[in-house]
Amino acid sequence: LAQGTSPTPPMGWNSWNHFAEKVTDADVRASADALVSSGMRDAGYVYVNIDDTWQGKRDASGVIHPNSKFPDMKALADYVHSKGLKLGIYSSPGPTTCARYEGSYGHEVQDAKTYAGWGIDFLKYDLCGFRDVMRKEAGNDKQKAFAMQKAAYLKMRDALVAAGRPIVYSLCQYGWNDVWEWGPEVGGNLWRTTGDINDTYSRMVEIGFSQVGLSKFAGPGHWNDPDMLEVGNGGMSEDEYRQHMTLWVILAAPLLAGNDLSKMTPATLAILTNKEVIAVDQDSLGKQGDRAWAKGYSEIWTKPLSGGATAIGLFNRDKEPASITLNLREIGLSDTAKLRDLWKGSDVEVSGGKYTVTVPGHGAVLLKTSAESMRAGQDCDRPMSEHLGLP
Ligand code: GLA
Repeated sequence: LAQGTSPTPPMGWNSWNHFAEKVTDADVRASADALVSSGMRDAGYVYVNIDDTWQGKRDASGVIHPNSKFPDMKALADYVHSKGLKLGIYSSPGPTTCARYEGSYGHEVQDAKTYAGWGIDFLKYDLCGFRDVMRKEAGNDKQKAFAMQKAAYLKMRDALVAAGRPIVYSLCQYGWNDVWEWGPEVGGNLWRTTGDINDTYSRMVEIGFSQVGLSKFAGPGHWNDPDMLEVGNGGMSEDEYRQHMTLWVILAAPLLAGNDLSKMTPATLAILTNKEVIAVDQDSLGKQGDRAWAKGYSEIWTKPLSGGATAIGLFNRDKEPASITLNLREIGLSDTAKLRDLWKGSDVEVSGGKYTVTVPGHGAVLLKTSAESMRAGQDCDRPMSEHLGLP
C-alpha cells in the first residue's frame, strides 16, 4: 500500500481560511518561507496545503492543468520540498469543487497520477460538487447516496495507491453519515467532522465543544478533523485563540494553521508554536481527548498521553473570568498527581488533590500530570466521559 500515513495528526498550513480563492503560487512560496523562518516547520508544521481554486482546464487527453495563478506545480512542489516541507492539494469527487472549479469526476486515476508526478504529499478531497451527482443518481434514496459517497472516496484511494506515491488522504465531507465510523475503510487518514469553521468565537466553540464522544474513533493514521485553525486571522481575542488551540490539541486534531504566515504577530506565533502544547496533540499514544466534567460555562476535558500521563484542559466559555477547581479524583486521576501548566511552562501547586485557577473569559488553561497519574484499577483506554456517564 503506497498511501500516505499520519502516525500523529498532520501539521502544517492551508491556504483557505486566509487567502480563499485569491491564493497564488507566490502566496504558497511565501508561506513555505515563513514556516521555515518563523520556526514553525521545526515545531512540526510541515504540510503546505493549497486549497480550492488552483485548477485550470483539462487538455485534450484529459490531464488537469493549474490555472494562471499556479504557472508550474512541479516547480512549486520542488521549491516546497527543498525547504524540508511537503505540498498538499485539493480536489473533489464531483465534476466541480465547492468553489466551482474543475473536480476529479471521471478522471480520478489520471488526477492521482498527475498529483504524484508533481510531487504532491497530501490530498484534501471535498465531497461538495459530488452532491449534485448523488442527488441526480440517488434522488431521495439515502442508502444509495451513502454507498455512492463511499465508492467515490474508495475510487480516489485506489487511484492514489496505484499512483505509487505516499499521499495523506483527507476526507472533507462535513461529518455526514458518521464518517468517523467508516473513514478508515475508504483510506481516510483524517476526516472532517463538521461544516466549515470561520474566524468567530461562536463558530469555533460550536465546532470544538461538539466533538464530545468522538474520541474513540481517532488513532494513529486516522484522525477526526474539526477543521483548520483560525489562530491569527484577527476575528478572536488572544484568549479565544488560546482556547481554540488548547481544545484542538486535546482533540488530537490536525493542526493546519490558516493565517497569513508572512504577517504574524509574536502573540500568534507563541500560540501556534508552544512546544509543550503541541506535544499534547502529537503524543505518540494517539488518543483523542474527551469531556470529563462540565458545569455551566466551565468544562474540563482530558486526553490520555503516553507513559501514563494525562493532559487536562480547563475551559471557560463565559465572557467573564471564572474560577475553576480541578478535582483530580473526580475525573479519575490520582490525587497525588503533580501538575504542570503548559502555556506558562511551570509547575503548579496541587493541594489535597485539588487545583483552583482563574481562567480568563473565553480562555483556557492546559495542564499535564506527571506520569502514572491514573488511579489504580482505572481503564486507561476509555475516555473519562464514559466513566462518568456523560454523553
Ligand atoms: C469547502 C470546505 C472548505 C474549503 C472550501 C473550498 O467549503 O469545507 O474547507 O475547502 O470548500 O471551496
